[in-house]
This record gives sequence, C-alpha cells and structure tokens, in this order.
Amino acid sequence: MLFLSVSLLLWLCQTALAQYSSDDLMSFVTLPDVRAVKFNVQNKNRERLSPGYWFVAPYLHMGPDPPSTLYEQYQIGPHIYDGEGRLIWTGSQQFDNRNVFDFKVVNSLGPDPQLSMILQSSWHSKLDTGYGLVLTKDYQVERKIPLRADLGIFDIHEFNILDDGKTALVTIYLSHEITLEEFGRPEESTWLETGGYAEIDMNTAEIIQSWDSFNRVPMPETVHYTAHSPAEGLPGWDYLHINSVDKNEIGDYLISARFTNTIYLISCMDGNIMWRLGGKYSDFEHDFTFSKQHDAKFIESNGTHHVISFLNNASDEEFNEENMSSVLFVELDTSIKPMTAKVIRRYNRPDHQLSRLRGNAQLLPNDNVFTCWSKEGYISEHGADGELLMTANFTSSRYSSYRGYKFEFIGRPTAPPDMVASVYGTDETNMVTTFWVSWNGATDVVEWKFYAQASEFEDPVFIGKTPRSDFETMYIARGYLDWVSAEAVDANGTVLGRSEMHRSKFPDWKSVGYRGKSSTPIPADPSTVYQASDSTAGDSTVVESDHASPNAADTQTQKTIQVLKHTYDAIRNISGIFSFVLLLCLFAGVMASYLVIRGWRVRFYQRIRTEDGFPGERAHLASSHED
Ligand SMILES: *[C@@H]1O[C@H](CO)[C@@H](O)[C@H](O)[C@H]1NC(C)=O
Ligand SMILES: *[C@@H]1O[C@H](CO)[C@@H](O)[C@H](O)[C@H]1NC(C)=O
Ligand SMILES: *[C@@H]1O[C@H](CO)[C@@H](O)[C@H](O)[C@H]1NC(C)=O
Ligand SMILES: *[C@@H]1O[C@H](CO)[C@@H](O)[C@H](O)[C@H]1NC(C)=O
Ligand SMILES: *[C@@H]1O[C@H](CO)[C@@H](O)[C@H](O)[C@H]1NC(C)=O
Repeated sequence: MLFLSVSLLLWLCQTALAQYSSDDLMSFVTLPDVRAVKFNVQNKNRERLSPGYWFVAPYLHMGPDPPSTLYEQYQIGPHIYDGEGRLIWTGSQQFDNRNVFDFKVVNSLGPDPQLSMILQSSWHSKLDTGYGLVLTKDYQVERKIPLRADLGIFDIHEFNILDDGKTALVTIYLSHEITLEEFGRPEESTWLETGGYAEIDMNTAEIIQSWDSFNRVPMPETVHYTAHSPAEGLPGWDYLHINSVDKNEIGDYLISARFTNTIYLISCMDGNIMWRLGGKYSDFEHDFTFSKQHDAKFIESNGTHHVISFLNNASDEEFNEENMSSVLFVELDTSIKPMTAKVIRRYNRPDHQLSRLRGNAQLLPNDNVFTCWSKEGYISEHGADGELLMTANFTSSRYSSYRGYKFEFIGRPTAPPDMVASVYGTDETNMVTTFWVSWNGATDVVEWKFYAQASEFEDPVFIGKTPRSDFETMYIARGYLDWVSAEAVDANGTVLGRSEMHRSKFPDWKSVGYRGKSSTPIPADPSTVYQASDSTAGDSTVVESDHASPNAADTQTQKTIQVLKHTYDAIRNISGIFSFVLLLCLFAGVMASYLVIRGWRVRFYQRIRTEDGFPGERAHLASSHED
C-alpha cells in the first residue's frame, strides 16, 4: 500500500516532468545546479584494471556556444569519475559550462599530481582566445597560459606539458593566402589553413619554438582537397589538420596530420621533415595501413628506434579506409634502408565501429591501454595482451569527450563538503531528519559521520555514520535534529573535511498535517536522543535489517525511514528530474504515505505547498494529474 502510493507519486512526478526529463544526466540534492552526464559501465575483468580515475570533458557542441540568458544546469567541462562511473568532480560550474579539452593529470609540475586542460576560446573570441590551464589538487587555477596573439586562438587539440614540466606543446592553426600553382591553377588564389605547433614556456608563456606547415608540407599531400576543389575564403582550406604533437628526448617533434594521413617527424634543428609515416609519401616499408589518425605519441625513442602509439580511426567525414578503428603501437627502425615500421600491438575498437572523429590512446603504468573513442564518451581499457577489460559510454548520445584519460589522483578541495538536511514527521513520535552530503572533488572519502547540536553553541553530538555510497550519500536519523554537520572520513579513519553547520529545513507544519502537542515541533537535544550506546540506532542500514525492538512510535519512525529511503532510491534510479522537484516529490511521497497509513482520504496534490519561488512546478504537477 505504502509503496503503491509512493510509486504512484513518482509516476506522477515523472509524467509531469517528462518535458524536462533527461535520463542521461545525474541530479543531486546538494548540487542542484549540476546535471552531470551518466556513464554506463561494463566491466569484463576487474582484476586486471589499473587503478585510477577517468578524466573526461563532455561537450555538446564542438564550438563555443553563444551567450544565453536561458537558465540551464551545468554538465559541460572537466569531470572526474571513478571506475564504476560514479562522479568524483565536476568543474562545470567553475568553468561556466565552457568547453574544455585534453583534461588530464600532469605529474611533472611538482610533488603532487596536478590537472591540466584547454579552456576553449569563448564565443566572443576576440576578447578571450582560450588558455592552457593548470589546476592544483584543490582545483584552484594555478597557471593560465595564453597563446601569443599572432599564433591565433588556443587550439583545442593539444596541451602537452612535457616531462620536465618546463614547457608545453600546443597545436596551432594559421591562415595564408596562396595561389594554386601546385594544383596547376597559378592565376587563382585561395586561403589556406596551415597547421603547426608551438612550444610554450610554462612559467613565462613565451614561445620557445614554433613551426608551421606553410611551404614545408606541399599541398598535393592532402587527401582532403584535389586539383579541382574550389578556392575558399578565410580561414581557408584545412589541408593538413594537425591534431597532436609530441617531442622525444633528442628534441624532435612528432606531429599527426589527419588530412594527409601522415605522421611526421620534424627536426628541432631546422624544422625540416625528417620522415613521413603513412600517407602518399611514406618513407617506411610497412605492411599495415592507417588513416585519419589521432594522438600520435612517443612511447620510446632514441634517435634511430622509436615506438609510437596512435589512434587509427580509419575514416572521416567522407571516407572509410578500414572497417574498424583501432589503437596501434608501431615500432620504427630508421637505422636501416629502407626504414621499417611494424605494428607491435593493436587494440580494436571493442564494438567494431569507426571513431569518425577525435579520440586518443594512453599507455598506463601497468602496461594496460586506455582509449577514448570520443563519440558519446566511449572509453575502453585493454590489457597489454589485448584482453578487453572494460568499456563504458555516456548513457546519452548527446555528449562526447574529445579525449579521455585514466590516472591516479588525490583531490582535496578547499571548499567544505556540501550538505542539505530536512526534517519530516506528523507528531513527536515519528520525526526523522534526512541528510544528503557530497564533497565535489574529494577523492578517498569512504565514510560520512553525522553530528547534531542542541543549539548553535552546544557541542556537536555524534548521530551516526554510513559508508559513502556515491557522489552524494543519504542518511536518515531518528528525531528532529538541527544545527547539523558532517565529517568526511578516509579509509584510515582520518577526517578529511567537515561541513559547515547547517540548519535543517522543515515543511509548513500545518499544511503537512502535523498533529503534535504544540503547533510546531521543537528540535531535539541530540545528547538525550543519542546516548553513546544508542549511536547506531539511526543508521538506515540498521533499520533496514530490522532488528530494532519495535514499540508503536519506533515502528512509525521506521516506516517513515523506509519510505524515505525507498523513495530516494527510486528517484535516483529514475533520475532526470530537477533536483528541487526531486525534493518536492520526496516530501510528497512521505506525506502521502502518512496519509495512507492514517487512512486520510485526501487528494494529496492539493495539499502540497510548493517551495517559494517555483510556482511553475506546482502548475505542472497539478495539470498532469488532470490529463
Ligand atoms: C636505440 O634502441 C635500439 C633498440 O632498442 C638499439 O638497437 C639502438 O642501439 C639504440 N640506439 C641508440 C643510439 O641508443
Ligand atoms: C578520424 O578522425 C578524423 C577527424 O578527427 C575524421 O575526419 C576521420 O573521419 C576519422 N576517421 C575515422 C576512421 O574515424
Ligand atoms: C569491410 O567489411 C566488409 C563486409 O563486412 C568486407 O567485405 C570488407 O572486405 C571489409 N573491408 C576491409 C578493408 O576490411
Ligand atoms: C552505450 O553502450 C550500450 C551498451 O553497450 C549501448 O546499448 C548504447 O547504445 C550505447 N550508448 C551510446 C549512447 O552509445
Ligand atoms: C593510510 O595510512 C597508511 C599508513 O600510514 C598510508 O600509507 C595510506 O596512504 C593511508 N591511506 C589513506 C587513504 O590515507
């Protein structure tokens, strides 16, 4: 009966809010402005997975979005998830829902791992042409590296901080006006978009070295334009499309150009092309093909022998050269003539599809390989021998992540944990207080401890604890508790952080049918409700296991707790509802249950007071009931 009524309510809420519904996003009571993208995870062999978190940056549109006055919750930008697809950090609010690319951990800037990423140019790109950012483990921006103005906007493909931490490599795009002499049309001119890279000093943002394909990579290498392609205005023919740059210890640069199907080694001495792998003019003898590749990186390199990795996406907007994208590890021997290239490892895209655009591959410290196939956040991890260990994707087809990485990381936010507490009940015997806690960016939290005070000035009394269940954890305690707070605890029992003290929210007691002795309930003194021996009685897991000795009032309280918990779980499973409506439904669910328990025949939806400031939601709720 109880659950029937709760289910009915949930169904109503769901129907009412179908127009806002988005099952692919998470909602949180503690961060109502955030709707993080959900992952769908398939673990194939957990034992062999490397430790670490996923670093992804979901985006909706590749380019910057125009300014808007429409309020929307945040889900774009840098995000960290754990291996179960649970959110650890969302930076979407901090970066104002702006597109972020190449979000990863950088271990070369000090003893602690830090974070780096590209903040895309804003829609007003004349004013803000984008930056390379470095964040410390507390998620504060520590460095903001601009690109020298004559090198254009900060390109989204690469922000590769090198192992010495002194410089970073970025890709650049420039435009030149040329005549089409190389294509036998000397009288005709067009704009040409060339590609290159720059090496930037991480302290001063000065350019140490830069390179442009103009007059170095001839036009006929492109597979994207032909002798008959029409001339174009600015920015011009994207004939090369550089999409990655890396550097070996000798100092030479490895670049990947998608529209010539070629990986180039560029000499640091004079900028000359030392060799080409792939494309129309490959300098190597090889028995494999690749095309439209991404993310060419050195694994090893000593001047004559190189091992490189790259994503062979094998197709693009127009052509498929192979049936399936793959990660290739290729060994190059340049000491012999002809030079040879052979595939030493290959990891096919697990679903045998093509990654048409974007993506990357990362060799992990334990020799596993982590790959982001980009579209819809499709990621996978393989053992070195090729065994598929895990795949995951966004539950949404609306979002993609250009690249994705896996790293170990310790996040220690400076802001305290977030907390919301609410109290419910219909008389003194059945009051309960519900806590929601989260701590955006804190890794290593395994347990939450809850406290309440008799007044602002009394000492906190320990109420109970519960394991961290997800980004947000819920806990229900007996009694009307107020002046509440929570502590985040790690596996060693060390307190990592403490929330501020919060007052518990309460409903309009009269309208929810409160029938206690006084017209409004009074917060309990937690030290009398929670004696030391009794300290776990409020633990919702204890309640569920049902071994508390019931007297009438306790039974009532336990029913309430169970209803609340099931309602919350159900809402979490459904998701896709604005958080405040979630709260509203939760509240309504509890009240409905009471009404059912007490046999009140009342049309509950008429009795619900919506929270101030959201009259629209009330209208939706009511009108859907009439449908
Ligand atoms: C580079 O590595 C290869 C293979 O490991 C080795 O045979 C060669 O001697 C090395 N060359 C140099 C210059 O160290
Ligand atoms: C590879 O990616 C490029 C763009 O990054 C795209 O144009 C090309 O179609 C992709 N190729 C494949 C096989 O996915
Ligand atoms: C692609 O798949 C088709 C049919 O499955 C097959 O006939 C063809 O040979 C494949 N092409 C390549 C390049 O593997
Ligand atoms: C994600 O993967 C699941 C299962 O593999 C699949 O059914 C679903 O279509 C995928 N979703 C997207 C958005 O690609
Ligand atoms: C717990 O303590 C051990 C030993 O002091 C330490 O090595 C480990 O890093 C600690 N773990 C956490 C999560 O703090």
